[in-house]
Amino acid sequence: MGISVKQNLILEQNYNVENLFLKHFTALSEEESEAVRSWRNHQEVRAFMYQQHITSKEEHQRFVKGLHNNLEKGYWAVFKENEGLGVISLTRINIFHSYAFLGIYVSPQWHHQGVGKQLLSALEFLAFQKIGLHSLRLEVLEENQKAIAFYERNGFLKEGCLRDFALIHGQFKNIVLMGKIDEN
Ligand SMILES: CC(C)(COP(=O)(O)OP(=O)(O)OC[C@H]1O[C@@H](n2cnc3c(N)ncnc32)[C@H](O)[C@@H]1OP(=O)(O)O)[C@@H](O)C(=O)NCCC(=O)NCCS
Repeated sequence: MGISVKQNLILEQNYNVENLFLKHFTALSEEESEAVRSWRNHQEVRAFMYQQHITSKEEHQRFVKGLHNNLEKGYWAVFKENEGLGVISLTRINIFHSYAFLGIYVSPQWHHQGVGKQLLSALEFLAFQKIGLHSLRLEVLEENQKAIAFYERNGFLKEGCLRDFALIHGQFKNIVLMGKIDEN
């Protein structure tokens, strides 16, 4: 059981998916990496994450370093014609059971313009077609109704609720578990 070396090689690389370029975090220039950090630190993104503190440059660099040769997770910044659109990730990748958890955030300047949909379909292509996973799962704060509606519009089903699962600013919050199974 476990992830083969080949899987690891697939994770730590860049991809072209239709008109999007998926650049692995470990391949980003310092400037690109800092742009990613600024999107992640923006209030409209940070407010919906498990970790809501401002990420420092050093912390971000340590995080990126940890993605080298990582068998269980991959993060990609997504570009369209050199314009950074957002970030997609696959974590808790389990090759035996053929699932992963996804993550997504759009650069704040691109919110409400249909970019999330493009990023999500690139992520599904990567997970289902390139890596060959069977299912995708995600966890979303119950109060993030915008994201829940976004996932439902894109074929994800609610599969459960993790009650009082995340401690955010001193308050326990419910998490909605959602999933999609590859139909091909
Ligand atoms: C959740 C999130 C990824 C959705 O991304 P998005 O780009 O806003 O979502 P969509 O691709 O569905 O686009 C949504 C809007 O664009 C509109 N839209 C869709 N296609 C469009 C197009 N081609 N042209 C113009 N507008 C379009 C939709 O009508 C919709 O409008 P609304 O948001 O006012 O209802 C994004 O809001 C985000 O990054 N949020 C913060 C982080 C977060 O919550 N991540 C999820 C944690 S689990």
